[in-house]
Amino acid sequence: MPDFARHVFICINQRPAGSPKGCCAAAGGAEVAAALKTKLYARGLKRVVRANKAYCLDQCARGVALVVYPEGVWYGGVTLDDLDELIEEHILGGRPVERLRIPARELTGIGDPERRIAELQDPPPLD
Ligand code: FES
Repeated sequence: MPDFARHVFICINQRPAGSPKGCCAAAGGAEVAAALKTKLYARGLKRVVRANKAYCLDQCARGVALVVYPEGVWYGGVTLDDLDELIEEHILGGRPVERLRIPARELTGIGDPERRIAELQDPPPLD
């Protein structure tokens, strides 16, 4: 198994036209994914950074969503115009692009997921 420096998942999920949730396909997800791969390859990063298409990341209303690991930084509303900055700043520089970042507290809608896991592992006693 190769050890990639970064792994990027880009949502390309498509919903029927008029869906109230929206979808990344309608915002250009497939184009963003293809362009990111092309740019990474052009920079010689093919075996260094892995970019994979993904289905819904549950951030649908934000425009094209993607997540970069190992940092676990989530982005929303990503367009073709943002890719050079994402590559330069985050993928190569290790500095997340704050203007596109989805705050961690807004990702799940349940607050702190680590606290939720702790609650599930150690439920309060029944009366
Ligand atoms: S359709 Fe892309 S995050 Fe849901």
